Amino acid sequence: MHERPSGPGRDPGHFGDVRIAPSVLSADFGMLAEQVGEVAPSADWLHVDVMDGHFVPNVTIGPPVVASLRRHTPLFFDCHLMMTEPGRYLQDFADAGADGCTVHIEVGGTDELIARIRGLGLRAGLALNPDTPFEAVRPFLRDVDLVLCMTVFPGFGGQSFIGEVMTKVEQVRAEIDANALALDVEVDGGIDTTTAPVARAAGANVFVAGSAIFGHERPWEAADAIRESVRAAG
Ligand code: DX5
Ligand code: ZN
Repeated sequence: MHERPSGPGRDPGHFGDVRIAPSVLSADFGMLAEQVGEVAPSADWLHVDVMDGHFVPNVTIGPPVVASLRRHTPLFFDCHLMMTEPGRYLQDFADAGADGCTVHIEVGGTDELIARIRGLGLRAGLALNPDTPFEAVRPFLRDVDLVLCMTVFPGFGGQSFIGEVMTKVEQVRAEIDANALALDVEVDGGIDTTTAPVARAAGANVFVAGSAIFGHERPWEAADAIRESVRAAG
């Protein structure tokens, strides 16, 4: 494994802490480093959406962009791999400076993927599409650091929050509480100051937001507003 730079900004925080994770999917890719730098003081993690044009119809960014961004920010990189074959690229993401890699449970081979992510020294996450039930992730809850409950069908930013997913968020949180598991619960898709408190009440603690943050004239204010909305929800 290559030596990866570490610093205070690469600390993921404690399990269960509230974290705001702006998604660069909605940033201006022509000025990515600048936009990330602007939002960084108001962000805990940076969410990096990787799409392969196969698992989802869209194509976005890959390891070279992660490596370039790595030189510009010490933020924790939360890489969301919407890929049919994420295993082919895990080493590349680790080398590029990813801190966590989240793979979709729908692609299968989950045990091996988790072991490989962990073997690379990264935090391991499992993502579930909105229509994938809680039962699918239950057997893996002791083996991962994060469960990502998608609150839209993955592929594009700017979609509407699917409230029905909150039942699953509640189930994950109940399992964490009942078994004192070390696990973060992340929501992604349609998160803004209205929906983040709803997800918080259901048990989420990591909030990904793309268009609500980077679609705002002052993205840092939008990130602060989401944090405040979550705090107000308790
Ligand atoms: C969607 C991505 C999300 C996306 C969210 O497939 O996984 O991370 O950036 O975008 P918004 O916040 O605009 O719904
Ligand atoms: Zn995402």
